[in-house]
Amino acid sequence: MGAPDDVVEALRRAGCVAAEEEAAELWVAAGRDRGRIDAFVRRRSRGEPLAWITGKVVFAGVELAVHPGVYVPRWQSEPMALRAAQLLPPAGRALDLCTGCGAVAAVLAALRPGATIIATDADAAAVACAGANGVDARRGDLDAPVPGDWAGTVDVLVAVVPYVPAEEMHRLDRDSRAFEPAAALDGGPGGTRLLSEVLRRAPRWLRPATGVVLLELGGHQAEALRPVIEDAGLIPRDIGRDAEGDVRYLEAGWA
Ligand SMILES: C[S@@+](CC[C@H](N)C(=O)[O-])C[C@H]1O[C@@H](n2cnc3c(N)ncnc32)[C@H](O)[C@@H]1O
Repeated sequence: MGAPDDVVEALRRAGCVAAEEEAAELWVAAGRDRGRIDAFVRRRSRGEPLAWITGKVVFAGVELAVHPGVYVPRWQSEPMALRAAQLLPPAGRALDLCTGCGAVAAVLAALRPGATIIATDADAAAVACAGANGVDARRGDLDAPVPGDWAGTVDVLVAVVPYVPAEEMHRLDRDSRAFEPAAALDGGPGGTRLLSEVLRRAPRWLRPATGVVLLELGGHQAEALRPVIEDAGLIPRDIGRDAEGDVRYLEAGWA
């Protein structure tokens, strides 16, 4: 049985574009209970992310728990996660920095079950959520929690760092600004502060000759980062674009 019509209508009035699909998800998450669905609709109408209310999201075919307060993985990140899995040898090693709920690491684990993956995040709630998703997640700044004996052994280093330019934060949709932690989004001036830092730190971890780094970014950030990439002894190998031709990620390897 589908969600009641008035639930669909309430979500539509609140501005939900996919009101029928959201109503169906909320109805199931509410256990088809009238009192619970009304509370869920009130939360969703205030702009709270759907995944925080249902407690889950599907990312690149993998169902993940998403705890309230933790960044909700975006479909735009799926192609990079799948590319990372493609580049990861079956028994290889990967790092997922800034893992959030562990989305990219979980996809790597699902597609490369024989690989070893360590994930990190600065936020305790994110680390707990990633752990609940079966990810070996450690709390700390970027690569700080990675064991030293992983130096030179990493096949794929992937990161979705906060990269929204500080000067463009006001252009994010109202719900992201109201609910999602700025620390998960704000990349400082130009959005390149943490992108640059990951590129500076990557060479320590990458396997000689074959290690690859994949970074989600947008706009003209890949060009802006070119000097940092070169200083790190790396070269840009590819730029991932979406169907609209917009830049989504950078792939770089040893020069
Ligand atoms: C844009 S979210 C990406 C999360 C996840 N990779 C995904 O795609 O769903 C960025 C994440 O980086 C974390 N973060 C921000 N600054 C960090 C830092 N200096 N070191 C580690 N994690 C950081 C935030 O807590 C947040 O979970």
